[in-house]
Amino acid sequence: MIQIKRFACENLTSGCVTDERSPRFSFYVESNIPGNSLQTAELTVNGWKTIIHSQLSEHYRGPKLTPFTQYTAALAVTDAQGAKDEATVTFETGRLDTPWQAKWISDPTYKFTDKAVSPVPMTFRKVIRTGKPIAKARIYATAMGIYELELNGQKVGNRYFAPGFTSYKHNLQYQTYDVTELLRGEDELRVIVAGGWAVGSFVFTRKNRVYADRQALLLELRITYADGTEEVIGTDETWSVSEEGPFKMADIYDGEIYDATCGWDTVAWRPAAPEKLRLSPKIMADYGDPVVAHERMEPISCTELDGKLIYDFGQNFAGVVHLTINGKRGQVVTVKHAELLNPDGSLNVKFLRTAKAAAIYTCADGIQTYSPRLTYMGFRYISIEGISRENIEVAALALYSDVEQTGGFACSDPMLNRLQQNILWSSKSNFVDIPTDCPQRDERMGWTGDIAVFAPVACYNFNMSRFLNKWMLDLQAEQLPSGGVPNTIPLHGFGFPATMPVMAVAWWDDACILVPWSEYQARGDKEILRHYYPGMKKYIKACCFWAGLLSTGKNKYIWDVPGMLCFGDWVAPDVPQMSQWQARGKWTGTASIRNCSSLVARIAEILGETQDAAYYRDLSEKTADAYCSVFTDGNGKLLEEFQTAYVLPLHLDMFPNADVKAKAAQNLVKLVEGNDHCIGTGFPGTPYILFALADNGHADTAYKMLLNTKCPSWLYQVKMGATTIWERWDGLDENGECPIGDDGTDIMISYNHYASGAVGDFMYRRVAGIEAQAPGYERFKVQPVLGGGLTWAKSHVLTPYGLVSSHWRIENDQFTIEVQVPLGTSCQLILPNGQSISLNSGNHTHTCPV
Ligand code: BGC
Repeated sequence: MIQIKRFACENLTSGCVTDERSPRFSFYVESNIPGNSLQTAELTVNGWKTIIHSQLSEHYRGPKLTPFTQYTAALAVTDAQGAKDEATVTFETGRLDTPWQAKWISDPTYKFTDKAVSPVPMTFRKVIRTGKPIAKARIYATAMGIYELELNGQKVGNRYFAPGFTSYKHNLQYQTYDVTELLRGEDELRVIVAGGWAVGSFVFTRKNRVYADRQALLLELRITYADGTEEVIGTDETWSVSEEGPFKMADIYDGEIYDATCGWDTVAWRPAAPEKLRLSPKIMADYGDPVVAHERMEPISCTELDGKLIYDFGQNFAGVVHLTINGKRGQVVTVKHAELLNPDGSLNVKFLRTAKAAAIYTCADGIQTYSPRLTYMGFRYISIEGISRENIEVAALALYSDVEQTGGFACSDPMLNRLQQNILWSSKSNFVDIPTDCPQRDERMGWTGDIAVFAPVACYNFNMSRFLNKWMLDLQAEQLPSGGVPNTIPLHGFGFPATMPVMAVAWWDDACILVPWSEYQARGDKEILRHYYPGMKKYIKACCFWAGLLSTGKNKYIWDVPGMLCFGDWVAPDVPQMSQWQARGKWTGTASIRNCSSLVARIAEILGETQDAAYYRDLSEKTADAYCSVFTDGNGKLLEEFQTAYVLPLHLDMFPNADVKAKAAQNLVKLVEGNDHCIGTGFPGTPYILFALADNGHADTAYKMLLNTKCPSWLYQVKMGATTIWERWDGLDENGECPIGDDGTDIMISYNHYASGAVGDFMYRRVAGIEAQAPGYERFKVQPVLGGGLTWAKSHVLTPYGLVSSHWRIENDQFTIEVQVPLGTSCQLILPNGQSISLNSGNHTHTCPV
């Protein structure tokens, strides 16, 4: 028997509305017959039939698709026994460049009071009269700002922060809402548009109006009546606008002020006016994953302090409170948010910097619910003022992009399991439409370095395809002519020096290569490489320019430009000053050129660019040689020793031969032992240190480091009660107090920064042992590395071919492993005794003595 388990259009199994002219289809199948194989797969769409060549991505190449049309794609498969299965997936085309009949509208009379403050939300309104039976009705909407759509007082759809965060100068998404069943004949459409990212105060410099002078709305309601006639109702001068109504303030950092006593019926409406935007982005149907509410969080405790209620959710996360209040008209309830409590039990809001992160709600009479809709916060604790405990029920909603969780890891060490949970929660908290650095303070920006190092583990845990592709489109659009990449994507008018036209910053800008490469490894779609390849080449050219500037001989490959901004070994705990992290930039920068050039050499080969491949291979070799010549004694010893300086050349295979490499590994071990097995790496070294140890014969040291609970280490955070990954290794001291220095890092204390959670990659690849050998796991390896006293570990990854899983245990000196191999893939299982076994699809169990 063969069964189609997943059949998707543009990576969505339902609800896809796309402006892609040749959308992509993907599927996987399962079978109960071990070793079964897929014989044929035929796709039929819009009268076009094709034999599928790659189940990971088959492009539609049939007759031109028509806008606003629903299509059904049919898939028929047969297996080696001749058994068959069929499945369908429907998708709808979006506008496909149909010109908008609607006009951008705004309230030109709105005056900003302050350069740094978000505008009062604008509400646009129109009453729509239809009066004939409707066959189909869709709303297409987008905004400058973030909007919520209401039809007859009810929110339409479930997404937050539409149209999403993109580089609005270049790209803007629109959303499609099926309102066929919601229209009643006379309907009131209301759209609340807050400043959001485009117009609101954003980035720690707190500038507003970066992308537009004021909020603006573009919306079309397209109706097909049962009698076949069509009508388009678009935003124009006939719409009304007002800043009155219950939403008094909304700001990504500061929160929301909502007054439930301000009913919509008393609002004074003015005519809206056409708005000329400053920018003309490409407007496309959604291509990312929408932010929606996921887990409902319940508090685990409530205490009272100085007339305030303090709630603990037991988990740090990003989202909004959800309150049920028994209130009196005019009563004001104020909710503040924080990741941490002060020693006296009050909320620590210092680390939020300028972000006020408050929700202020004025009650109507009676039982009512309130949950902010135009902002979000990163928090574990809240304080509530203005209401007694018996009159409020408190919950919260975790908000994040709708990325499907595809991976799982667990083992016999409960602290490591908590670390995996912390990695997951920091991911969720920072996948809020773009990959952010943190969800709480006045940043929440798309810092490139964070996702560059975190992407591999993100791709184990989640299907990141749409989310990362959306962000990469912005990265591509914002890449500088010189090849450098702004350090935050979207750039968002951020005036950081590194965004100057000629800059390039190692490891951060590497995101233009590391992110597509991780996604390609996980999902196997070559297109992402092809699409971003020109940008990768441009970036390497920029790196080479800087490395080669004013230098000769081997120094041409050492990236060391005095005074040039770099982030070096960012957050390395053994040198707690920012300037010292940055001083390590020549080691990390040079290793970045090695890493990027060898990856781009591989990418060039995959794309058939053989000449390029040879060039990048040569560059990669010369860079490795330069690193060893300039920074080491030629015999595996760094002239200036620190963990990252060993980790990078070891992991990136930069030493000239096995003997020197072994010596270097030994030197790293010494360094690690001398540091009590505590971590000493920053962003560039952290993802690779355990690989550098374990893959060079020092699994014991790697495990000692992984399982260490002394500060700084991953499990120290767990020991101190962390529920997400910290930005600083020493976020809390042994007494649970925050280290507040004056070295510049005192304003950088976040408890929800995923970058050092990159260690999760080691947990999947070495502890559980699952590693792709060919993109998308068409071939993969299972080779657990035993150690640390672990007696079992299991993990699973939902690959594009289906579920891969590995579960091993040690009992009575016997190692047993169960491996699940999906149809269409093959697996090399390597047992701890070195025995190598080839596995076809199916479930397998093997044992060996340990
Ligand atoms: C962010 C980091 C980021 C860094 C750049 C910080 O403020 O929070 O995660 O990568 O700046 O060095």
